[in-house]
Amino acid sequence: MNTELTMDKLVSLCKRRGIIFPGSEIYGGLAGTWDYGPVGVEMKNNIKAAWWKMFVHDRSDMHGIDSAILMNPKVWEASGHVSGFTDPMVDCKNCKNRFRADHLDEGKYGEVKIIDGKKSCPVCGSTELTEPRLFNMMFRTYIGPVQDTESLVYLRPENAQGMFVDFKNVLDTMHPKLPFGIAQIGRVFRNEVTPGDFVFRVREFDLMEFEYFIDPKNWEELFEMWMKEIYKWLAFLGLDKEKIYNHEIPDGERAHYSKRTIDIEYQFPFGMKELCAIAYRTDYDLKCHIEKSGKDLTYFDEKASERLVPHVLEPTFGLDRALLASLVESYKEEQLENGETRIVLKLPPKISAYKTAVFPLVSNKEDIVNKATEVYKMLKPHFNTIFDDNGNIGKRYRRQDEIGTPFCITIDYDTLEKGDVTVRDRDTMKQERIKIEELADYIKTKI
Ligand code: GAP
Repeated sequence: MNTELTMDKLVSLCKRRGIIFPGSEIYGGLAGTWDYGPVGVEMKNNIKAAWWKMFVHDRSDMHGIDSAILMNPKVWEASGHVSGFTDPMVDCKNCKNRFRADHLDEGKYGEVKIIDGKKSCPVCGSTELTEPRLFNMMFRTYIGPVQDTESLVYLRPENAQGMFVDFKNVLDTMHPKLPFGIAQIGRVFRNEVTPGDFVFRVREFDLMEFEYFIDPKNWEELFEMWMKEIYKWLAFLGLDKEKIYNHEIPDGERAHYSKRTIDIEYQFPFGMKELCAIAYRTDYDLKCHIEKSGKDLTYFDEKASERLVPHVLEPTFGLDRALLASLVESYKEEQLENGETRIVLKLPPKISAYKTAVFPLVSNKEDIVNKATEVYKMLKPHFNTIFDDNGNIGKRYRRQDEIGTPFCITIDYDTLEKGDVTVRDRDTMKQERIKIEELADYIKTKI
């Protein structure tokens, strides 16, 4: 039996178990959109909260913000997104399909043949393809009832500009000293030409990023410091170091404002692909906003008694890709002694949607069901817990394994007499009897 993880297996598990559903499914879907279900949203929120804790709350040099998705369009002119946030596109004049030029060459749309020195369309085979033309990936909408160039606004394609635009407000209200960061988690939108690979490339996603403002004298040292912190984060996601690759973007391939960029890639089932990244953006963004807004976005260094435009290091993390990598890494198919196979998500417990699942051994004995409800209510304030009395115990274990619940707790006849319960460990499948009054502490020490 092939126990190797394929994307089809993962997509099907996510749908079956309430982790991720196709977007707008009852209307035939909408390309590049996915909905997080009751289980998936918990996992996603756990990752978000852990990121905020690690990069904001646990540090004394970071401030969080939550800026608006709609911003003055001048922001995107200053940042270069209006002119530069583009992908080269190729159109087929015959079947009218549109392709991203690099994805066309990679064969993502199907086989491209060379006929009489010309590339053929992977859909209809015609060689009537246009030269690549630039396509801006920002979604547009309009403010107010009139739809003209005056009312045009963009849905933000990144959070970073919010941190630059609010830089002065944060300076004036919080009085931070260099180096310091401004962090944000929020929804961003990109009109990706070729969404795909499940939630890897989507048209709206959550981005967790921060701008770390520094004196350029020590950028190299601070860049290394953040690389180490990023690796702590990757360990939190439970990722195997062997499957991570630091892709140093060479000169000439980096964005024009970046002096150094590393894309941190992960071995997904569809290839080694960018999971998160870090860039040294110099003082490019603040300088552009100073020029375009006419506002003073400098920082006064009291020690040196000088004004400077701080430089910026930017670690950036796609939330959906973080969860996808965790799911990929933790997905296991195991042969059991009875010949059956179990699928189990060996997720870090902090990411699991539920820390415990509570089962009454049987669902038709009032005393047992009542006791199980009591235990469920007792545990719920301590950590997210689910109650399950559907089907037999074996099936309930399988269901919880498939969503990565680290502990299953069964209330049986002995519980009524002795006041203890069976706690079953997801990974080892070993069972232990634990006293009800010790249960919450026991689980807390394990997660
Ligand atoms: N502010 C910098 C910035 O936005 P980026 O490399 O364009 O940089 C940051 O994007 C991160 O967002 C990526 O490392 C990736 O994790 C995630 N990401 C980018 N495009 C995505 C997409 N279409 N779907 C899901 N995640 C995406």
